[in-house]
Parts: sequence; C-alpha cells; structure tokens
Amino acid sequence: KAGLQYFGAATDTPGQRERAPFPATYATYSAILTNPREFGQTTPTNGMKWLFTEPEAGVFNYTEGEVVAGLAAATGKTLRCHALVWHNQLAPWVENTTWTPDTLRAAITRHVANVAGHWKGRCYAWDVVNEALDEDGTYRKSLFYNVLGEEYIKLAFQAAAKADPGAKLYYNDYGIERPGSVKTAGALRLVKMLRDAGVRIDGVGMQAHLHADVHPTAQDHVDTMNAFTALGVAEVAFTELDVRIEMPVNATNLAWQADSYRAVATACVRVPQCVGITLWDFYDPFSWVPDTFPGQGAALLWFDNFTVHPAYDVLIDTF
Ligand code: XIL
Repeated sequence: KAGLQYFGAATDTPGQRERAPFPATYATYSAILTNPREFGQTTPTNGMKWLFTEPEAGVFNYTEGEVVAGLAAATGKTLRCHALVWHNQLAPWVENTTWTPDTLRAAITRHVANVAGHWKGRCYAWDVVNEALDEDGTYRKSLFYNVLGEEYIKLAFQAAAKADPGAKLYYNDYGIERPGSVKTAGALRLVKMLRDAGVRIDGVGMQAHLHADVHPTAQDHVDTMNAFTALGVAEVAFTELDVRIEMPVNATNLAWQADSYRAVATACVRVPQCVGITLWDFYDPFSWVPDTFPGQGAALLWFDNFTVHPAYDVLIDTF
C-alpha cells in the first residue's frame, strides 16, 4: 500500500475468542486473515500478555502467543508484539504480591527479558508499555506506578532494548489521537521524559478505538502524529483501529464509520513516519467492542455474514 509499510489485522487464539459464534466460520475467517491481498501484518490480541506468558512467578508459557507469531511467520506477515507491561490482564500473582521497589524492579526486568527474549528477532515492534496514562493525562495509578513511579516505564524500555535490540520499541495508548487533548499532552510528556533520560523509544502507537459519531479528522491525526515525531520518535502507527457504531447499523452510521476509517488512512498515507495501520481483528463477531461498550458494535470491516462494510471500499480507494 502506498506510503505505508503494512496494513494488518490483529487476531486472537481461537480458544480465547469470547464471542466466537460457531466453528464453521473459522475456515472463511482464516482464508481472509491469511490472504496477503487483505493483510500484510498481524498482532496477537491476547496471547503475549502477562496473564498468558508468566502465569506463575518465573514460569513462562509462550503457547498462546506462538499461535499468532507462528501464523505471521507461515504467511509472511509483519508481526507486532503486544504488550510487555500493562496494568490489565496481569497474572493474579502479580496483583497479589506485596511489592517493594527492589522486588518489582526485578520482576519487571525478568518478565521483559524472558518474553521479549523469547520472540527476539521476530517482532517488528513491541508495545513495551501500554496505557500508562489516565484520562486526564497524568500517570495511571497502576501497581507499577504506585511502587516505582515513572521509573517503571524507563526500566521496561531499557529491558526491552536489551532483550530484543532489533525490535522497534513503542509506547501504546488509547485516546491519544486528538492533537489538543489532555491525554495526548500526557503522552507527549511521557515520550519527552524518556528522550530526556536517554532511554530509547522508537515509536508511539495510537490504539485508535474510535466512535463513528465523533471521530477525529485526517488533519487531527496528522497534527497529533507530527507532535510525536517532533519529539524525536522515528515512527508512529495506528495499532488497534476499530470504529464502533451505536447499534443497530444503518446507512448513516455506516457512512460516518467510513469517514472515520478514511481519516485514519488519509493521515497515515500523508505522514511519512506513519508506518502502518492495524485493525483490532477484522470480523465483527470477534471484536472486543460489544463486550466492553454495551449497545455498540459493528466496529470492524467484515459483518457477521462476511460481507464488507462500506468502509472497506473507502480504504481501498484511499490507499
Ligand atoms: C482486549 C482484547 O481484545 C480482549 O479480547 C480482552 O478481553 C481485553 O483486551 N487496549 C489494548 C488491548 O491494548 O490489549 C485490548 O485488547 C483492548 C484495549
């Protein structure tokens, strides 16, 4: 695709898809996912998270993550790896331990060294730290932050750089798509904090879980990306794109959705540092949206019956 290194779709391990309708759809699903004319990149939506990769202290399990990593290798897709340090989907033992700064530093370092080390050389990029910011742009009061302050962010990036020197190291978050928002300002501060400390950060991932009714414009996206790259990060990407609709779908909200997808694609094509776009899955029944945002859905490009949304053709035109 012109201007982008990749256009891709994240996917889950079949056993983890909470809303999987019926196995008969998997053959059609897999055919689309693996078709190089549709997607040149993938990300595991769950399998590389702490819950799966270190379910017990010091016990590592790569089975779930390998399903998608293996699929990427077998089908020649770029692999984005997600996510090393995140406050959600942590293993229960992490939540239940009483940490001191020393023990938590050691646990983060061990986790990142093992997990990023395991996939060394196979990840185009790693989401090293995910969602470290609150809605008001201040640091999220996660267990990592409560024990170590912003030091945990530096530590995670340093450990990732050591474990997989060839992977691009990303800060990834949602709600950082608009140029003037307090949360985008927080992300800019976080990037600057790492740069000032001499810690390597190569990219910022804008998750882009958007809403069809109130989406950013292409110019919004361009301005935000330019603000990040002005701080010295080499690249930016849309890492978890979906555009949810107030159900039921109709011609109007599908047109708004198509506009939203168009704005992202137009902006990414326009900004040289925008390396790519990843959909957070591509098939509506496998989307996380209906479980997370009751009453909303149809956020991806393929409907339940495998026909495509109007946004699909808009994207083809834009690239
Ligand atoms: C979501 C997955 O899609 C769901 O299957 C899971 O139950 C919860 O996590 N931001 C992220 C992703 O960085 O990891 C989240 O993925 C969606 C929000």
